[in-house]
Amino acid sequence: MHALTLISLGTVFLTTSCNGRFFDNLEERYSESEDVSLWPLPRQFQSSPAAFKLSASRFEIVHAQDSTAGPSCTLLQNAFRRYFEYIFGYLNKQATLPNEVFDSELTQLQVLITSSDPECHGYPNLKTDESYQLEVDELKAVLKAPNVWGALRGLETFSQLVYEDDYGVNNINKTSISDYPRFAHRGILLDTSRHYVPLKVILVNLEVMAMNKFNVFHWHIVDDTSFPYVSRTFPDLSQKGAFHPYTHVYTPSDVKLVIEFARMRGIRVIAEFDTPGHTQSWGKGQTDLLTPCFSGSHPSGTFGPVNPILNSTYDFMTSFFKEIGTVFPDAYIHLGGDEVDFSCWKSNPDVQKFMEQQGFGQDYSKLESFYIQRLLDIVSSTNKGYMVWQEVFDNGVKLKADTQIHVWKTKPEYRDEMARVTASGFHTLLSSPWYLNRISYGQDWQEIYKVDPQRFNGTSEQKKLVIGGEACLWGEFVDATNLTPRLWPRASAVAERLWSDESVKDLGNAYTRLVKHRCRMLRRGIPAEPLYVGHCPHEYSGL
Ligand SMILES: *[C@@H]1O[C@H](CO)[C@@H](O)[C@H](O)[C@H]1NC(C)=O
Ligand SMILES: *[C@@H]1O[C@H](CO)[C@@H](O)[C@H](O)[C@H]1NC(C)=O
Ligand SMILES: *[C@@H]1O[C@H](CO)[C@@H](O)[C@H](O)[C@H]1NC(C)=O
Repeated sequence: MHALTLISLGTVFLTTSCNGRFFDNLEERYSESEDVSLWPLPRQFQSSPAAFKLSASRFEIVHAQDSTAGPSCTLLQNAFRRYFEYIFGYLNKQATLPNEVFDSELTQLQVLITSSDPECHGYPNLKTDESYQLEVDELKAVLKAPNVWGALRGLETFSQLVYEDDYGVNNINKTSISDYPRFAHRGILLDTSRHYVPLKVILVNLEVMAMNKFNVFHWHIVDDTSFPYVSRTFPDLSQKGAFHPYTHVYTPSDVKLVIEFARMRGIRVIAEFDTPGHTQSWGKGQTDLLTPCFSGSHPSGTFGPVNPILNSTYDFMTSFFKEIGTVFPDAYIHLGGDEVDFSCWKSNPDVQKFMEQQGFGQDYSKLESFYIQRLLDIVSSTNKGYMVWQEVFDNGVKLKADTQIHVWKTKPEYRDEMARVTASGFHTLLSSPWYLNRISYGQDWQEIYKVDPQRFNGTSEQKKLVIGGEACLWGEFVDATNLTPRLWPRASAVAERLWSDESVKDLGNAYTRLVKHRCRMLRRGIPAEPLYVGHCPHEYSGL
């Protein structure tokens, strides 16, 4: 049975707002007893009215007897504790008096890892199998997954199946779920350069990512405005390029903590060090790295993109990316490559001379490609794969076959760009319609939700090259005060698009579930903003 038949559908109608514009108004329909609201919706979901009670004093999450993971698997031990908390942490204590006995009760969730290597100490990657199966029945539930990553996804689903009845007692219905993601790369980009984002806020959002089954944290860690990454090799970069050298930085131990916190939740951390543009802050701590701009025949005192004509630039990049390659364990590094402004390069007589020597004519995109090409060779030699923004592909740079092209522009039409990129045989991921830093009045989650990354003119072979997408939250107008509510639950719409089956796109059904999912996030202490009018059984109580 498909889940859609089990979850009450909201109704869609149009209203006129006071300034005369139309927008969708999705009326919320709570069922009598608050039923389940899975988000993102699993592949296969069957449930029956047989309900079992859960008691905090008797229920336990344990390793199944024949699981290949045991108590030494700290990743799972940690997750068991976390999800127990989510299930019982905010319960009305009255309802869980230890001596209360229920007729039909669920007392155990057994977690069964089946692969010989459960991957307790590994990192997730692009090829990770995140599938799981969940059977909830009388007395016990079994969560079966090949490895810990699938188990993490299944634990989240299990916790979402639990609901409170009218007496505040936790219930779960007899359920059978088989689930796996549609796309392998399901990411969130956070920008920690335009504003400094405190470590705690990053960690909270990793936690929320796991609640939404996201698996990539794209850390746009530095940019023009500030360089908060503390490099061991080049400490001056943050010393001089951060907003503050001690309070507004990410130390090596901070970075380690983020990576480990993410790993424990099945999330990859892909760092972006964007060059040759977006590098003003780099220039503060590294002399001669940026191109001096000229006004007529004199240096103007300002600087442009990374200077591509100096050997010292490539020496620097070699040392720098060698460090990055060891600090960030993921197989991929994002190298940026977007929005390079040529005006400074054009003004500089040494650059002009170099262009002539190389036979580039007046085509500065050739100079950009010259730089990127050398950078890619440097990064390849550290055995890392790379992701780049679409301009690198658009400019015809020679790319390794496993390069991932990140499509972000809205003009020209992103669907055509996806078609071009995949026609050239490259893997691609989509962000163009998912710039969540852009906000507007009304329910903009719907437009976010309607997007399908595989909806472009191309062969099925081309469609297979789409690895997923990322919701981006650029930081010009975002810091710790508004980051979390701006991102959630709007990013949840992206989460379902990237996880659930292509056929899951009914807005009314999504609205009903998303309202409840958002209430669940509130209950877990996350200030996720409202979708529309209404209330939650447990409101967010503020700071
Ligand atoms: C769960 O069980 C309750 C009580 O029998 C029933 O009212 C409800 O419809 C069931 N929900 C699902 C999703 O099966
Ligand atoms: C830069 O390196 C190239 C190749 O290694 C070399 O031919 C050239 O002389 C170097 N330029 C300078 C200014 O050192
Ligand atoms: C596919 O191509 C047709 C014909 O050129 C065009 O009308 C249509 O909009 C395209 N579809 C997409 C999703 O780009």
